[in-house]
Amino acid sequence: MNNPKKVTIKNLTKVFTSNKKEVTAVDNIDLEIQPGEFVCLLGPSGCGKTTTLRMLAGFEVPTSGNIFIGDKDIANLTPDKRNTAMVFQNYALFPHMNVYDNISYGLKIQKRPKAEIEERVKEILKIMKMEDFANRVPSQMSGGQQQRVSLARALIMNSEVLLFDEPLSNLDAKLRLHMRDEIRKLQQRIGITSIYVTHDQAEAMALSDKIVIMKDGKIMQVGSPKEIYQKPNSEFIAKFIGRANIVKGVVVNQDSNFKDIDIYGTIYKVESDKILNIGDSVEIVIRPESIITNQPGHSGKVVKSIFMGEVHEYEVILNNQVIEICVHSPLGKIIKNVDEILDFKFDNLAMHII
Ligand SMILES: Nc1ncnc2c1ncn2[C@@H]1O[C@H](COP(=O)(O)OP(=O)(O)OP(=O)(O)O)[C@@H](O)[C@H]1O
Ligand SMILES: [Mg+2]
Repeated sequence: MNNPKKVTIKNLTKVFTSNKKEVTAVDNIDLEIQPGEFVCLLGPSGCGKTTTLRMLAGFEVPTSGNIFIGDKDIANLTPDKRNTAMVFQNYALFPHMNVYDNISYGLKIQKRPKAEIEERVKEILKIMKMEDFANRVPSQMSGGQQQRVSLARALIMNSEVLLFDEPLSNLDAKLRLHMRDEIRKLQQRIGITSIYVTHDQAEAMALSDKIVIMKDGKIMQVGSPKEIYQKPNSEFIAKFIGRANIVKGVVVNQDSNFKDIDIYGTIYKVESDKILNIGDSVEIVIRPESIITNQPGHSGKVVKSIFMGEVHEYEVILNNQVIEICVHSPLGKIIKNVDEILDFKFDNLAMHII
């Protein structure tokens, strides 16, 4: 395996022209991906994820900007000169070739010696636990097995960067979870820099060292799954990753990194390095699972109360706003029904000012 490589994207833009109209699919993005890092590009449909990935792979020419692998600017190289390998959503295997020929295809094109090809295919089949499948053609395999072959085909090229475009979205839910863990384990074992496009937030949380959230061709936030979840920088991010209540409050006091926030008459001490003044209105993100029930603070009428086994889900009205509350391990806890009044407070350690 090559040394893991850093990937640097600078001022990258892609403008498509269709029907004489210009669409800015990727709008001047900057991104640094450290050697060996697993990064997910996440965002709503049409936000520019695939276009970004295709520019990295060389299938799309940037309108402007630079892409570096290590110190080398690759933006103007053809795909075969880039040392990247891509795994596609639809596997893109050759249907008439067996697994062995599919996997060895790239090495044959490179005219590697036959003995070397045999050795490398054997090794990769072992890594992928697919030794028994060498002679099968794609139609004789399940979707998950085919996707493992397409992963093997990408890995065997000893590329410097692996690119994935929604590789699991054609698989059923259970297989998806299994393959997700396989991909993560494999990537950690071989340490290859990987960029993975998905619009499934759970997938991004489970796989990533770093998540890049895009919207309308722009990068909205970059951070670890925990940073993105705990400290979203906007209402868009807060609601895109997980569920979020956004409540309004007023700054009533502050002491270095702590702000006293008045939320409908209850004061919370919230950690934040934001520069704020006393009297400022703020918006605060509070996750449904970070609300403590049957505690003095706020009182609200219950409009939804559903026992789900592991959790109990509430919706409660607070000052004309619906607040979602999720109580874990509800068995044995006091549970309120619809139309009853629930007392609750926010966990100040989990509150975040946006
Ligand atoms: N070849 C093209 N010609 C014109 N417009 C394009 C082309 N490819 C993509 N676009 C447009 O660029 C924007 C970004 O598309 P892209 O495929 O990168 O989105 P995406 O984030 O991958 O979305 P999805 O989650 O649906 O796959 C969209 O508005 C899309 O319609
Ligand atoms: Mg896409």
